[in-house]
Amino acid sequence: MSDPKILIALDYPSAKQALQLAEKLEPRECRLKVGKELYTSAGPSIVKDLQSLGFDIFLDLKFHDIPNTTAKACAMAAELGVWMLNVHASGGRAMMERCVDELRGFGAEKPYLLGVTVLTSLSESELKEVGVSRNPNDQVLLLAQLAQSSGMDGVVCSAQEAPMLRKQIGDSFLLVTPGIRPKTAEINDQKRVATPVEALSSGVDYLVIGRPITQASDPGAALHEINNEIQSAGS
Ligand code: C5P
Repeated sequence: MSDPKILIALDYPSAKQALQLAEKLEPRECRLKVGKELYTSAGPSIVKDLQSLGFDIFLDLKFHDIPNTTAKACAMAAELGVWMLNVHASGGRAMMERCVDELRGFGAEKPYLLGVTVLTSLSESELKEVGVSRNPNDQVLLLAQLAQSSGMDGVVCSAQEAPMLRKQIGDSFLLVTPGIRPKTAEINDQKRVATPVEALSSGVDYLVIGRPITQASDPGAALHEINNEIQSAGS
C-alpha cells in the first residue's frame, strides 16, 4: 500500500504506551497521529522515535496564534519532518497565508498543512455563545473556502460534511476525517460516525481512527481488517 488511508490517533499519556502500540503496526498499512496529550508529555522525541520505526506523522496540535508565531511553530514542525500538521482556520487569512509561505521554504519535503474548521464537539448553541450565529454547516464551508483561498492543502471535517465540501471545493483539496467506526466497533463518545468505506466514498482522503484500533485486543489485526474492507470496496 503506497498511500495508506488510515491515520491512527495515538491518544496516550506517555511515549512508552505510544511506542508499544506502534510496534504492533506496519508503516505500510497506516500513518500515526500525535496529538496534544502525547506531545505535551513526550515532546518532539516521540515524533523522532515513531519516524525511526518507519511511520509518517500527522502532528495534530491545531496551532492558533498571531501569524508570525503560528508560522514559526509550523516551521519547527516541518523541521521535525512531519508528514502533516494543522492550524485553526478561524485564525484567519493572514495567519494561514504566513504559514503556507513559511512552509514553502521546505520544498518537496514540505508537510501537508490543514485547517481545522469547526470543532465537531461544539453545538449550534455553544457556537452562538462565542458569537458565531451562522449555522455550523455554513460556518464549516466559509472556513474551508477561506483555508483553500489562503493556499492551505485541505481541512479536517466530519464525514457528514465531506460530500458538501467535495462538491463546493473541488477535488484537489484534502479532506481528513475523524469519527470513523468500522461496522462492528463501539461508538464510544463519538456522536455522528461513518464506516471507513462510507467516509471514503463520500470524498474523504484520509481517515483518523483511534480506539477501534488502539483498544482492540489485536491492533495489528484490527488495522488489517479495515484495510481489507477498504480494498475490497475499491476493487
Ligand atoms: O478514538 P477515536 O477514533 O474516537 O479518536 C479520534 C481522534 O480524532 C482523537 O484523537 C480525537 O481527538 C480526534 N478528533 C475527533 N473529532 C474531531 C477532531 C479530532 O475525534 N472533531
